[in-house]
Amino acid sequence: MSTLPFVENKTFLVTGGAGFIGSHVVRALLDQGAQVVVVDDFNDFYDPHIKEQNVVPFSEYPGFTLYRIDIRDMEALRSVFTLHGPELKTGGIIHLAARAGVRPSLKNPRLYLETNVTGTLNLAELAREFGITKFVFASSSSVYGDSPDAVPFKESQDISKPISPYASTKAMAESLLYTYSHLYGLQVVCLRFFTVYGPGQRPDLAIHKFTRLIHEGKPIPVFGDGSTRRDYTYIDDILQGVMAAIGYEEKAFEVFNLGESQTVTLARLIELIETVVGKKAVIDRQPLQPGDVPITYADISKTKAMLGYQPTTQIDAGIPKFVDWYMNALVKVPITP
Ligand SMILES: NC(=O)c1ccc[n+]([C@@H]2O[C@H](COP(=O)([O-])OP(=O)(O)OC[C@H]3O[C@@H](n4cnc5c(N)ncnc54)[C@H](O)[C@@H]3O)[C@@H](O)[C@H]2O)c1
Repeated sequence: MSTLPFVENKTFLVTGGAGFIGSHVVRALLDQGAQVVVVDDFNDFYDPHIKEQNVVPFSEYPGFTLYRIDIRDMEALRSVFTLHGPELKTGGIIHLAARAGVRPSLKNPRLYLETNVTGTLNLAELAREFGITKFVFASSSSVYGDSPDAVPFKESQDISKPISPYASTKAMAESLLYTYSHLYGLQVVCLRFFTVYGPGQRPDLAIHKFTRLIHEGKPIPVFGDGSTRRDYTYIDDILQGVMAAIGYEEKAFEVFNLGESQTVTLARLIELIETVVGKKAVIDRQPLQPGDVPITYADISKTKAMLGYQPTTQIDAGIPKFVDWYMNALVKVPITP
């Protein structure tokens, strides 16, 4: 990627910067010559050791600062803004910290609400207080809910019927950020990520989990008959979209889909992983899970037209790259999700 003038020598707060997507974003920003302040609480949604490993290489960059802070803790957050607020005016806030995952959100909806909505409110309030304008937010394809007849999903579609607490919190956070853009001129870009994968993918997500279990010869839990479809997005394409969103300045509030605009069935995904791993999967068939949607499928025409987004890695090319990373990571550090 050539140097981006809206990134070089600017300072960004990246919440969730120790996580899967966050650590890729932090690396890309640092490599572009930005200063990066990360706020992450290293919680145990999955093995925090993985997050610790993610941030180790960043200590080599002089422009990197890490705060182990919970975004629900307003006073702790305020202390970060007191120290870095003036610098953040040049760059902005990239808000990726969240309780992720649809199914676990049914078990602990309050934690999802407090993290994903109150946490977002805390950041929006501090942005207002410290005069920071740029705010990029990680939303999700899950906001489109159970709408198989409305594919591919367009940003203009109704998102008032999310079917899991997780999806609901993402829709609420988008709405809250709209209010802050309207009232206080916060310049917000909401990016609706469609299932993201690639090196470092969260161990709870299907591609990572299936690769590990197939490799170990253990049964893989498959929800439904394998006909559910997902638009899987390779991390490099997500990074391309995040960088473009940072440079976007035309409107005070905008929403963009980040997907490949290509769907694959769960059954086909498993075949692809089997082929690359070189082993047959042992299927543990389970009923469809409440909160899961039958299909996600991104219409990316708006993102292409307004952000110049051009995704390049479709699933057939991305799975071998992921499995390659997984096998190499196994050799270096045994992953214990
Ligand atoms: N991975 C995907 O497929 C996907 C799809 C759609 C949207 N998203 C969104 O993208 C963002 C990043 O997802 P990810 O897959 O990298 O997940 P992740 O869990 O790897 O990263 C999230 C990070 O946020 C941190 N965090 C969580 N709660 C926090 C809190 N209260 N205070 C401070 N830090 C906190 C976690 O410790 C973690 O490091 C999330 O907002 C997620 O909802 C991800």
